[in-house]
Amino acid sequence: MEGLRFDFNNMFASCIGGGHGVEEPDVSELLPKAFEAHAHLAKILSDQKNRVRLSLEWAALPLQDKATVQMIQALGKKIASKYDNVISLGIGGSYLGLKAAQDALCPPYFNEFYSLRKKFPRIYFEGNNLDPDTLAVLLKNLNPKKTFVVVISKSGETTETKAAFMVAEDWLKRSVGKNYGRQILAITDPEGGSLRRKVEAGQAEDSLSFRSLPLLKGVGGRYSELNMGLLHLALIGVNIQELLDGAKDMLKRCSEADPYKNPAYMYALLHTVLYLKKNKPIAIMMPFSETLKSTADWYVQLLAESLGKKCARKINILPDGTEEWLRDDKGIVNFGRTPIPARGTNDLHSIQQNNIEGRNDKVITFIRVEKFKEEIKVPGKGDLLSGRRFSELLKLAQEATEWALVRESRPNCTIIMPSVSAYNWGALLFFFEMATAFEGELLGVNAFDQPGVEGYKNYLYCKLGASGIPENITRQIESSPLVKNPKFIL
Ligand code: PA5
Repeated sequence: MEGLRFDFNNMFASCIGGGHGVEEPDVSELLPKAFEAHAHLAKILSDQKNRVRLSLEWAALPLQDKATVQMIQALGKKIASKYDNVISLGIGGSYLGLKAAQDALCPPYFNEFYSLRKKFPRIYFEGNNLDPDTLAVLLKNLNPKKTFVVVISKSGETTETKAAFMVAEDWLKRSVGKNYGRQILAITDPEGGSLRRKVEAGQAEDSLSFRSLPLLKGVGGRYSELNMGLLHLALIGVNIQELLDGAKDMLKRCSEADPYKNPAYMYALLHTVLYLKKNKPIAIMMPFSETLKSTADWYVQLLAESLGKKCARKINILPDGTEEWLRDDKGIVNFGRTPIPARGTNDLHSIQQNNIEGRNDKVITFIRVEKFKEEIKVPGKGDLLSGRRFSELLKLAQEATEWALVRESRPNCTIIMPSVSAYNWGALLFFFEMATAFEGELLGVNAFDQPGVEGYKNYLYCKLGASGIPENITRQIESSPLVKNPKFIL
């Protein structure tokens, strides 16, 4: 099966000029570091203990056991046959991959039309915000007896998801009665967290209730679509194995040491050169496809949480030979490229003006789809557009955008996707995951933690009166409240 291709011509000085483009010597200069990074990653990936400890187990997900995949596919089918609606609760890595998969792989308007869904339920995503409006409206309008709730939270503690789950659980309990727990499935840590405790308590009362699927150890939220997203894929009728096969083939391509043979490494390497040497801190992800818009949203989290880091990584070798990664508090780097999701052609009438004429501090990644699932031909005769296919116009618009960027010396690259199939989408996801992990290696930061997210969580939990917050943090919060000077509020 033909896979993805990565066209990076327009990243080079030969296309966009030396001021803003990568020169071949820039690549050569970084190659020794790239080979070192490859050797380091390959060593970690070859050892399960290291993978799990350092949160790189996601890289083994394409190779996961077929029997588990079949079990999840069958479970999804069973739930789908009994319920008209599924509410999927989760945020961040427990939501964005699912939404991206659904938008990419299900027909548009999936929820609206039974003829499109066939035997599969409508899927509603909630628990990804604290805005009361959407959940309230949803629960007022869904029939609880025909609704199944899947709650996904690795930690089992995330406020948005936890609050929404408490509401949804209460809603089911009030309308369905004592067996309400049979309409709930939790995907969470196998051991810790309040959601896991809830599962244990629910199952102790009624073994058919609060079913659960465990998350694999060493798979962080934003790298977990091929683990925590599997049941959702089954619920929407996606062939999971096909998707994993796409990821597996990409894993093989991304195992090459030489960046000229490894698309993910080349993607990371060129972005690193442009970031560090050509001052390009903005990353615009612009699929020319409506159905890949949420994949761009998923990428935003992947890039921002993985590489937006204050401190460098310090490696400590443990007595058993495995590594421990520490935060080097003295090595302040403040790295991070800022990701911005966009979509062609819609955003050609919006952000594109700034891409072309604003500061030349961006790198644009296009995703170009070669073959669409549907086609429309513009009717009539005599008009410029008459007889043209939409897909032809879309491709031409993308080519035109590339051309306009090149003329203004704006670096850009294109991922060419033969079609938005499960196979290709699995490959695309894995490509970005590997590119991000490799970029983390090149920059010397830990791409698998997110310490910056803790700041707001601590404040929130402290104000809610949670126990267990370290005293120094509580003191910090209390002694430095937000300053709201009326002079600066109009
Ligand atoms: O990448 C991550 O680990 C995070 O963004 C999490 O996915 C997010 O915070 C949600 O966490 P949880 O699944 O524990 O509710």
